[in-house]
Order: sequence, then structure tokens, then C-alpha cells
Amino acid sequence: MTRPGTATNPNLSHRWKAPCTSCDQTKLEYEELWGPREIRVGGLSVQGSDECVEFGGEVWPGAKAIARLLAERPDLVRGRRVVELGCGAGLAGLTAASLGAASVTLTDLEPNLGLAAANARANGLVVSCEPLDWRRHEARLECDVVLAADVVYKPSLVAPLLCALREIAYGLLVLANDERSANQRRFATCLESCGFRLLEEHATDVLLQLYGPPPSSSSGQMTEVRFADLAVRQDATEGLGGLVWPGAVALARYLRTLDLTGSSVLELGCGAGLVGLAIADRVASVVLSDELVGLAATNARTFDNATVRVLVWGLRRGEDDQSFDLVIGAELTPYLDAHDDLAAEIAHRLRPTGRAFLTAAPFRSGKNDCKTTTCATHNFINTAARHRLVVDRVLQAPILDDKNGDVQGLDLALDDGFDHTLILELRLASSSSLP
Ligand SMILES: C[S@@+](CC[C@H](N)C(=O)[O-])C[C@H]1O[C@@H](n2cnc3c(N)ncnc32)[C@H](O)[C@@H]1O
Repeated sequence: MTRPGTATNPNLSHRWKAPCTSCDQTKLEYEELWGPREIRVGGLSVQGSDECVEFGGEVWPGAKAIARLLAERPDLVRGRRVVELGCGAGLAGLTAASLGAASVTLTDLEPNLGLAAANARANGLVVSCEPLDWRRHEARLECDVVLAADVVYKPSLVAPLLCALREIAYGLLVLANDERSANQRRFATCLESCGFRLLEEHATDVLLQLYGPPPSSSSGQMTEVRFADLAVRQDATEGLGGLVWPGAVALARYLRTLDLTGSSVLELGCGAGLVGLAIADRVASVVLSDELVGLAATNARTFDNATVRVLVWGLRRGEDDQSFDLVIGAELTPYLDAHDDLAAEIAHRLRPTGRAFLTAAPFRSGKNDCKTTTCATHNFINTAARHRLVVDRVLQAPILDDKNGDVQGLDLALDDGFDHTLILELRLASSSSLP
């Protein structure tokens, strides 16, 4: 079995340094990462196993951190109903059980539950073990405390885990993740964007965070837009980004005519995420980004190559320089004040050979009439030039294609009465063509 960021060689020496790209490698030692197969914390002894899937057979640093926290502050779980997500060997949840939790439910993918159950038996603890896959909509669980240790280790889990954490009703979430991965920090921004309240944070080699519950989700208000073989939820209560705009359909329809094989894609201002998800089956990976990502997470939940992340244009956090082959966005240019930040973000995110595709609906004085002086599209093109972005092509794309009937459920109030939108194809000016 391999672990993320580690090699597979079983003959690794004890002094082996983990080839971790996102951290200071010198801090990591073989002992820390692979540790002994039997972990003893407090009075508990927990075994690992080679039979597990998804790295569930090792006891991870996050689980040890939660176990230590609970041992120091048993009141967090004593007398409370506890659920552990992605429990693996079950150390965090079993520690809660040993400290007097009223009930403990260990959940994970089905193949891993045998190990958790065996560890419970070996320690004489009574817990229930239940399959729970965050990628599926499962029956709602109710408890007081949710524990989740080292469960944010790959981008495709962000959307499903966010969905699961919004569906379970609880009072306190204890989340711990190996701090060597930037994933947990990104995940924390997603939690924030969904209204989770950070109560405490302890950052050592493990990032340990305690959150209050999110506001209850408004999933009862959702409607569905169907485009080609995709069904996307929209939610008018989430503001303008909660609805699928006609320009998104026009862009998705156009992008599906291109050969995008192997591309990494970033959708900016994704809202419900229709454009990115409509091409997910033909690209390598898709990042759906927005200020609020709850709705996109709902829609991306079952996609293995899609993730969500909070991204506010022009606001770069730390050393974040992830770049993409394709940057896409629908109906972003009406925000005139944001043109500078939008262009800066596209220029920052595009690989040197990358391309950006945007639908741009101009402010118009009459049907399909663009007044150059007040037109948002022209303003954006001029702003983009200042950020070394060149417009290669401007296409007219039909907004609604009644002939194909490939879309259902759009809120036609957003249509504006125009029968086409513009699609801009942009690229970075090569340095040789710079003035
Ligand atoms: C890195 S292991 C951590 C195990 C344990 N929590 C620990 O810290 O020792 C990640 C765990 O997340 C679980 N997991 C991954 N994807 C999941 C999914 N879609 N639904 C439920 N659990 C999942 C894996 O099965 C695995 O047990």
C-alpha cells in the first residue's frame, strides 16, 4: 500500500526522507511517516493493516493529534454522541469511546470497517461501524461531535467531504490534517466560504481545527438545469452565482466542440460550475473556483477529476501560483469594477501556452447592439491587454439553441432578450511580442 507523498519501496531504510513536494523534506523521517504498525496512545492500542483502501490502514498524524487533544480535554466528547469520518484504523473515535462518549459511530468506505471494528474489539470498546461514502448522498446523521483526521489528502475529496460535512447535523467539528499538505488550508477556506465558524486552531506539524456547525443548507430551494448529459443544481437563494447563466451554456456548448484532452482547467467565478463540469469528461482535471463554493461542491461531488476552491480574483494568498492549460469563465465581464482583478487572475493562472475562454455579454443599448464606448467587452479587452493578454478570437455564440434542445431548466429571466453572446479566446502575449 502507498501513502500520499511517499514511495512504494518496501525496503526503505529507517532514515529515508519522504519525497513530499509541498513541504520542507528535511523535517520528515521514515519513523514519523510509517511508524510502527501498532500505535499506543493513552491506554489504547490500535493496529494498522495492509488490507485497507485509500490509505486507511495506517494511523495518521491527524488521528494521533485528535487523540492527544481528546485525552487533554475529555469534556469535548464525554457524554456526547460522536461520529468519526474516514476513520481508517479508528484511533480518534476509539479514543472518544475510551473517554466516555455516549456513543461512537466509526464511518469509512466499507472495505476499511473491518479494521476499525477489530481495533474496537481488541480494546474492549463498544462502537458502531457504518459505511459512509462522502461521494454519495447518504441518510442524514445526527450527533454532537464529528471527528475527521487526515481526510483532506487529495483534491477530488474536497467537494464530497464538504457536502458530507454540510449534511450531518452536529455541534462541533474537530478536523486535523498533516500540515505538510496545503490541502487542509485550502479546505479551511472552503469551510469558511460555506459558513463554518472556526473556534480554535492549533498549528504544529499537524493543523488541528475546531469548527462550529455551518448554517443549515438551503437544499430544499434547489432546482435543476440539464445540459447534454449533465444535471446541475442551482439555487436562487445563493445570489447571482447561484443560477446558471445562459452564457455558461453557450460556453459549455462551444468548449465541447474543441479537443481539450489532457488539459488542466480552472473555471473562474464558477457559481454552480456548469461549464467546468460539462467538459470534465474530456479533460484531465477541473478546478471550480468562486468566492462561495458550496453549490459547486454539491454539483462536483461525484466527479473524480473535479475539485472546488475558494478563489477571489486579484487576491493572491501566499505563494499560490498554481497554473492551468485552460482558464474559463462565463458572464464575468459585466462586473466592470472587477476587470482589472479578473484580467490579473487570468494572466497569473495561465501557463505560457495556455488559453482562456470567456463569454462576454456587452452592455448594449438595444438588441444585439454594442456601443463601443460603454461596452463591457471592449473595456475588458483593453484591460486584458494591460495584463499581457491578447485576444486571439472573438466568436458569436447562440445563447439558446432551441434547435438542439440541449438545455432545460434555465431561468430565462437571465436571458436579457439577446440571441447571442460573445466568446473571447485569450492567451498570454509571448515575451518577444511585448512592446
Ligand atoms: C489518510 S486515511 C486516514 C485514516 C484515519 N482517519 C487516520 O487519520 O489515521 C483517509 C481515510 O479517508 C477515507 N476516505 C477516503 N475517501 C472517502 C470517501 N469518499 N468516503 C468516506 N471515507 C473516505 C479512507 O478510506 C481512509 O480511511
